[in-house]
Amino acid sequence: MKRFLSKLVAMGLALGLSSCSCNEPKLPDYLNPEKDIEVRIDDAMSRMTLDEKIAIIHAQSKFSSAGVPRLGIAELWTTDGPHGIRPEVLWDEWVQAGWTNDYCVAFPALTALAATWNTDMAALYGKSIGEEARYREKDVLLGPGVNIYRSPLNGRNFEYMGEDPYLASRMVVPYVKCVQKNGVAACVKHYALNNSETYRHTTEPVVDDRTLYEIYLPAFKAAVQEGGAWSIMGAYNLFRGEHACHNDLLLNKILKEEWGFDGAVISDWGGTHDTREAITNGLDLEFGTWTDGLTMGKTNGYDVYHLANPYKELIKSGEFTTKELDEKVRRVLRLIFRTAMNTNKPTGSLVSDEHIEAAYTIGTEGVVLLKNDNNTLPIDLIKTKTIAVIGENAIKMMTIGGGSSSLKVKKEVSPLEGLRKRVGKDVEILYARGYVGDTTSVYKRVDSGQRLGDDRSEKELIAEAVEMAKKADVVLMFGGLNKAKKQDCESTDRAELGLPYGQDRLITALTEVTDNLIYINISGNAVAMPWIDSVPAIVQGWYLGSEAGNSLAAVLVGDVNPSGKLPFTFPVQLTDTGAHSMGEFSKNGEENYGEGLLVGYRWNDAKDVTPLFAFGHGLSYTTFEYGEATVSRKTMKNGGKVIITVPVTNTGSCRGKEVVQLYIADKKASVMRPEKELKGFVKVDLAPGQTEKVKFVVDTQALSFFDDKQHCWVAEPGEFEALVGAASDDIRTSVSFVLK
Ligand code: BGC
Repeated sequence: MKRFLSKLVAMGLALGLSSCSCNEPKLPDYLNPEKDIEVRIDDAMSRMTLDEKIAIIHAQSKFSSAGVPRLGIAELWTTDGPHGIRPEVLWDEWVQAGWTNDYCVAFPALTALAATWNTDMAALYGKSIGEEARYREKDVLLGPGVNIYRSPLNGRNFEYMGEDPYLASRMVVPYVKCVQKNGVAACVKHYALNNSETYRHTTEPVVDDRTLYEIYLPAFKAAVQEGGAWSIMGAYNLFRGEHACHNDLLLNKILKEEWGFDGAVISDWGGTHDTREAITNGLDLEFGTWTDGLTMGKTNGYDVYHLANPYKELIKSGEFTTKELDEKVRRVLRLIFRTAMNTNKPTGSLVSDEHIEAAYTIGTEGVVLLKNDNNTLPIDLIKTKTIAVIGENAIKMMTIGGGSSSLKVKKEVSPLEGLRKRVGKDVEILYARGYVGDTTSVYKRVDSGQRLGDDRSEKELIAEAVEMAKKADVVLMFGGLNKAKKQDCESTDRAELGLPYGQDRLITALTEVTDNLIYINISGNAVAMPWIDSVPAIVQGWYLGSEAGNSLAAVLVGDVNPSGKLPFTFPVQLTDTGAHSMGEFSKNGEENYGEGLLVGYRWNDAKDVTPLFAFGHGLSYTTFEYGEATVSRKTMKNGGKVIITVPVTNTGSCRGKEVVQLYIADKKASVMRPEKELKGFVKVDLAPGQTEKVKFVVDTQALSFFDDKQHCWVAEPGEFEALVGAASDDIRTSVSFVLK
């Protein structure tokens, strides 16, 4: 129907219905793409009946909402998001519909994107996934996600961009902009405070205004104000007594009034709970409330949605006028005209060579070299005769599972496959499973084709791996988490920081027979590493999507010099995080975010806690030297700017990229301020011996805190320090200046 209607509009234009020759009918304003979008909306609304208005503000199927068929206004088709375009599902069910053309490229998970610390990568990601969405005829991409990484136990961290609001803000903007260039709306999620999964429908974070504005909102604000996001998804949780999907403070006051958001607020699927609140508190488009839809009753199941018949009845009874309805319809029509009925959008493309290349490149840039004693990496392919590859994550498909971000890829290259392809016949590669984790192969009827069942005991599996390790020159262990429940998976949180499935015992056994174990951690979350001192090289390998194996192989053998940096802290133990030390995590009902502002590295700084690996940490196969930081002027006017300059030199023997990070410290303030906060980063690409003068512009906003009494950002006069370094725990140089 949708294709037909858009064709109809196109046909009308082709027939010249818009030209004003006297005997031809004039194209109505709402169908005329040359008219201003607000004029089109006014015209469409003037023609719509009450029933038609009600029909476009709630779902008509699992992932679509109705247009206005009588007027040729197109349906709106949404899709998950955020790592690739989800397979088609049945009209009323979550399971795949069994189409054969609904595959996609899986791009690296958003944690990996954030780990690139490269805004060009975020733009490439947005462009590529936007083109795939467009080709698959989707109007709204349900992503990206920018909830802050508060605890390593949150099952959904892999879909987000880490612990720091500044990093997430810089990365989300290009993603959103480049998706939307395709005439596909980004739907930024989950607004706001969806930081745990198990009790996501009933948890109610208790967070003060300052923490809200400084930590949990900035990435959403940037997506809206700088990225120009056309839609936003309300979160499942409650905040200050109301569900986030119909929350007066979050949606009306902050998002729409303070930030001037002109797009549509879409509920998370089943996140709407109260008709009156849904009417008054900022929700525009309701999805997923009664998902059995047509199959359960004589009437259309979607008619019982809060924003369907129940709303209509309240208008008919006189309890509500159409004031709120018209506002919702206006926003939904704006979304439809920007996307589904956008006649200027490009054609898009699916599983193109460019998209596969993009997935590969983003993946290689996101890989983080956590530890590399004695230059264990890269693997020397000339000296190496035999490589033992151990671990389930060397072979397990990771693009299915994990909840709504699960995909159906045309191809996924596993780490084992990627390595085999890269090293060719000259190096022998042996494989041992090592442990058995999650053997699921079918997810929502998408079949990975893998059959991973293995009945051997832990003892047998370890013995096999150890024997193999003894025979090899290089031992690579691919372990970590996976997309099964209670791992990196929507709707459940992890049970512990430690590695599951007895992997610690396997790693320890391997370290007893080799001094050169290389551990590659596949996860979207931090894990504990009690054996760290016995393992010389450790790599954070994320979920890298379709090209995972090729990206990892390229870094492991040194085709690509690693340049990723951690977007979140790896704590030694859970109590080394603010959330688990001072706050509560994943709770039914009120959940106290007692650590306040002290999320991630802010906690380590404040409490002098040494992390396992710090925020911003990541090594390279080359080395970088930082010269002295200088400031353009020692005093800065309020509203002014200073420029911090630092020369950075590649002092090693191969080309490499370095993420130069700027943190700001407020030396004396009337309120508690984190010891330092990220306020700039630049990724430089340097040949051996090359120096670049890296520059950061620091403005008043970078010095400000949110004053919850005055309800505004304040930069207090006084001394500030600009700290420049290679990680949050590796500051190499600093310079002070004074704000007048
Ligand atoms: C998830 C969203 C997702 C939606 C549609 C919800 O359960 O929280 O992130 O976009 O389902 O699949």
